[in-house]
Amino acid sequence: MNKIRTLYVCDACGARSPKWAGQCPDCGAWNTLVESRAPEKPARGRLPRTDHQAQIRPLPEVHGENTPRISTGLAELDRVLGGGLVAGSVTLIGGDPGIGKSTLLLQAAANLADVRSVLYVTGEESPEQVGLRAQRLSVAQQPLQLAAETCIERMLETAETLKPAVLVVDSIQTVYTEILQSAPGSVAQLRESTGLLVRFAKSRGTAVLLVGHVTKEGAIAGPRVLEHMVDTVLYFENDAGSRYRVIRAVKNRFGAANELGVFAMTETGLKEVKNPSAIFLSRHAEPVSGSAITVIREGSRPMLIEVQALVDESPLANPRRVAVGLDANRLSMLLAVLHRHAGIAMFDRDVFVNVVGGLRLSETAADLPILMAALSSFRDQPLPNDLVLFGEVGLAGEIRPIYNGEERLREAAKHGFKHAMVPKGNAPRGGLDGLQITQVSRLSEALQAVQTG
Ligand code: TYD
Ligand code: MG
Repeated sequence: MNKIRTLYVCDACGARSPKWAGQCPDCGAWNTLVESRAPEKPARGRLPRTDHQAQIRPLPEVHGENTPRISTGLAELDRVLGGGLVAGSVTLIGGDPGIGKSTLLLQAAANLADVRSVLYVTGEESPEQVGLRAQRLSVAQQPLQLAAETCIERMLETAETLKPAVLVVDSIQTVYTEILQSAPGSVAQLRESTGLLVRFAKSRGTAVLLVGHVTKEGAIAGPRVLEHMVDTVLYFENDAGSRYRVIRAVKNRFGAANELGVFAMTETGLKEVKNPSAIFLSRHAEPVSGSAITVIREGSRPMLIEVQALVDESPLANPRRVAVGLDANRLSMLLAVLHRHAGIAMFDRDVFVNVVGGLRLSETAADLPILMAALSSFRDQPLPNDLVLFGEVGLAGEIRPIYNGEERLREAAKHGFKHAMVPKGNAPRGGLDGLQITQVSRLSEALQAVQTG
């Protein structure tokens, strides 16, 4: 029998060495050598002979536009996947422990089992535990194949005989290959087992779903190697303590990235939230200071959310700037613009800004509402209850238009908003029924408009 050799490869430069060392002898990087499998030695002299050539097909003859999609029965998950699972694709779902990854996948797998063969491999829980959860989710009678297995070779052998259309592995960190000595969850193990699963998915047309844990730093454990290897990476996340869960595509070879799906965790599993604007918006009965409503766009849909700010006298020499759900640098920049172009200084105040519902804002469209919320709290003057605003604020004090303005305004009108403050150029030509639109192009205009309006 051939003895399988292992060697150590530097993560940074790719240099190989037969022994482990703390520092890569080639590039000098520290702690980058990871165990991996040595390639089999080719025959000496010439290239190894094979009977096959690589297959060549002219591009126009390759049809990819109608990739058939397998619906998971959960519309919010299908949306994030770009319309459903694709045969032969590998999807990684990351998230903190206890967020509901196993619940989501068990629900999806149970739905899929109605029409396809599904193999659910559990490495973290016993089949009994999965059975209990299935009862709780009322899917215990679904024709789902369950296996408790962590050895990748045995897992693939089972899959080879069962030929499932969908294979779920919960979780990839528990899987190991017999070839390597390192512990399950180590980079080498992750890379090797994921590689085998990817090869299996591509060659058999099985859609593979992997659960991945998230490290303290917030990345999927296994230094990004996994994210490169798979087709789709989804993150399942939530606001601490909230029952809402947001699933987000950070990479998708079969659909748009940044697409968002929303679920609520209930006693009997995850329920889809079809109208997320309704939950991220905590409508106050009375106008309160420090609150501004804006419309963000996540993936392909607009969503109404509330931005809250609290500006208070600070007892500290260095007043705090706390941003939850947005970039703290952006907040500092906006406060500087407010000082320079409107003469409003908050040097001696603590400024806290929070995005309601645990969402994370990455759009510049939220600049104007963030500023207005801070200003509203600073002056203790509420903004009107039925006002929605968006717009990018530039360093010169200008308010710049953003994309998809009209669509955002329609979403606001749909939810009963009566006033909108938007950058010049973002309002539809003919206006919108039931929505009074104020267009602003400078910060000073915006401030004037809220004072008189
Ligand atoms: P789980 O899917 O086990 O999380 P993960 O696989 O991401 O670690 O979900 C665990 C949490 O969800 C647990 O705290 C209990 C809760 N839960 C519900 O609230 N309702 C349910 O129907 C189920 C199955 C779980
Ligand atoms: Mg789990």
